[in-house]
Amino acid sequence: MVTREYLTHTLALTSEPSTDNMSTVSEPTLFDENVPPQIVAEVEDLRRRINRANYLYYVKDQPEISDAEYDRLMRRLQELEEKYPSLVTPDSPTQRVGATPQTELAEYRHVVPMLSLQNALGEEELRAFDERLKRFLGRSDDIEYVCELKFDGLAVSLTYIEGILTAGATRGDGYTGENVTENLRTIKTIPLNLHHSKREHPDVKPIPRMIEVRGEVILFHDEFRRINEERETSGEPTFANPRNAAAGSVRQLDPRVTARRKLTMFCYGIGACEGIEFETQYEILCALGDWGFKVNPNIKLCANINEAAEFIATWQTKKEELPYDIDGVVVKVNSLELQNRLGFVARSPRWAVAYKYPPQQVTTRVRDIRVQVGRTGALTPVADLEPVEVGGVTVSRATLHNEDEIRRKDVRIGDTVVVQRAGEVIPEIVEVVKEKRTGSEVEFVMPSKCPVCGADVMRAPGEAVARCMGIACPAQIKEHILHFASRTAMDIEHVGPALVDQLIEKGLIHDPADLYYLRKDQLIHLERMAEKSAQNVIDAIQRSKSASLARLIYALGIRHVGERTAAILAENFGSIDRLRNATEEELAEVPDVGPVVAKSIVTFFRQDETAEVLRKLKKAGIDPFVSPISKDSGATRESGVFSGKTVVFTGGLSSMTRDEAEEIVRNLGGKPSSSVSKNTDLVVAGEKAGSKLDKALSLGVNVISEDEFLEMLRESGMSIGD
Ligand code: IVH
Repeated sequence: MVTREYLTHTLALTSEPSTDNMSTVSEPTLFDENVPPQIVAEVEDLRRRINRANYLYYVKDQPEISDAEYDRLMRRLQELEEKYPSLVTPDSPTQRVGATPQTELAEYRHVVPMLSLQNALGEEELRAFDERLKRFLGRSDDIEYVCELKFDGLAVSLTYIEGILTAGATRGDGYTGENVTENLRTIKTIPLNLHHSKREHPDVKPIPRMIEVRGEVILFHDEFRRINEERETSGEPTFANPRNAAAGSVRQLDPRVTARRKLTMFCYGIGACEGIEFETQYEILCALGDWGFKVNPNIKLCANINEAAEFIATWQTKKEELPYDIDGVVVKVNSLELQNRLGFVARSPRWAVAYKYPPQQVTTRVRDIRVQVGRTGALTPVADLEPVEVGGVTVSRATLHNEDEIRRKDVRIGDTVVVQRAGEVIPEIVEVVKEKRTGSEVEFVMPSKCPVCGADVMRAPGEAVARCMGIACPAQIKEHILHFASRTAMDIEHVGPALVDQLIEKGLIHDPADLYYLRKDQLIHLERMAEKSAQNVIDAIQRSKSASLARLIYALGIRHVGERTAAILAENFGSIDRLRNATEEELAEVPDVGPVVAKSIVTFFRQDETAEVLRKLKKAGIDPFVSPISKDSGATRESGVFSGKTVVFTGGLSSMTRDEAEEIVRNLGGKPSSSVSKNTDLVVAGEKAGSKLDKALSLGVNVISEDEFLEMLRESGMSIGD
């Protein structure tokens, strides 16, 4: 039997780690007679330390080592695994990302189905649930419940065999989901192997032979906003809420996309389990915490339904303080023996209920309907509301999406409307309170001229969106320049909305290329600028000149060309000129580029404005290239001159940027690295090479000059710098 003392102790662990008790299941599994034993020991030690650091950082939110120290451990492990590939195991922390994109997600059949929950709306329905159970069980004494938060994300199931993560799948129809193992492996709160708890207690569970762990993958609000900001600047559609963003990130063909988004998984239950037995739901939660999963600490063991009702009431308001969305509370019968007796009704367990919080609604008045102009010229109508508080947040605007949406809801200026907000969902107008109409309400008309530049507004047949046709529209120019300078594009620090507004207004820039012709004396006179800040801007702009070709293509803001497509285009065409001259047919042959994208690229390069921007960029010295593996040379990543070699660049290169040189090494099968160690195969020393060169010489690493590097490229059939 589980004691309360044990439960209190274990759950306290979810907020206060005592990880001295923690070790991982991958004890000495590594053996290869060709590898020195001290290397095996070092690899094991590194993995233990990295796993522990991950656990403390991601699961417990209590990091113990610095990022730099973490990076050092990870680099060393990568180095050793590269040198001794026989030591690589699937649960090594280096194996979180690395799988190649798939063409489709395979099906995955759950051993125990992932069912849904019956809902309860309001306290009456909650009490009816309790009564129903008592009737069914033929008892009148209190039933013990566990209350958990109901996370608003994507349900997934993880399968561990002998403690190792072997599969991960979405819920799908409950019986068959999609196999998203490689994507889930990138989520740092998901352990790749289960931790052995060394804590002495009779109730501590050993690692089961096989177990399906169930939980919800969610996105915290700050990460959701970051992803949407990034998508907005790149002209991609934004996600409506964190749930959609989490689902979109997990149901991905490319694990690298999942890896870039900081997802979290809260575990709350199990499916199939072989080799150990549990008695209560609470005990399951404790064991999950012990094994290294992130279990949400806001759990309550309730002696009866009254205590459950209290928990629900508390979280109705407290949920606004959480950094992630919940849409209710799940109330589960604690005893597994009772759960078994209660069984299922249709596709839901009889022993649990989801208490749903209603989305918060208030009424307010539409003061005006304005239109905003985005980077692609799209005009979005936005309702200006009399400010009201909804769930602790003041709402003064609600998006109306497009003209059709306004007609469908029949929203007019002056209307009284019901506004709804649930979690991070953008506030929306649910309906108009028509009884409150006075007759003075005014229907919205989409302007025929752009409110920012006065150019014509057009709505293409079949499209819901109206667009400004002005090529010099300041609203579009501003968004365009901000996108160009954004972190994932040319990464120009200090160039934000306030500065760009002023630069456009003063006529100092008209397009992104003009940034490279700004002088410090022009900036000093701007608001909130001084000598030093002006210099910082100039320096940041100069630094961005060495950005890779992929970044530049992405920065140009071609419709439908996101970061990934830009990288593929860079690799396939090698320079802006070659991309510009490509035909629709040639483009459509490239992986990831369909006919729509191909057409968009060709149309973009046909514009006179594009030619002008490219001319100015080239004149400013921005014309990066990637040397694609020459089709004639027959070189591939496997057979390339740098195949399997770690190459370090030090000092300045005169024929290309560091980014480009590293790209070439990668294309020819090598691995560029930033630090020199005894495992470095080659150091390319450019001008003013410093301490890395000294270290390379002292370690006896092969050092070559830039000319020798270029010679190696030529010998491998590559034409340089055309
Ligand atoms: S238990 C037999 N616990 O709610 C079903 N579900 O309709 C057992 N959910 O898609 C589910 N938080 O993903 C459970 N603490 C929690 C939950 C939770 C969110 C989701 C779950 C499922 C839906 C149930």
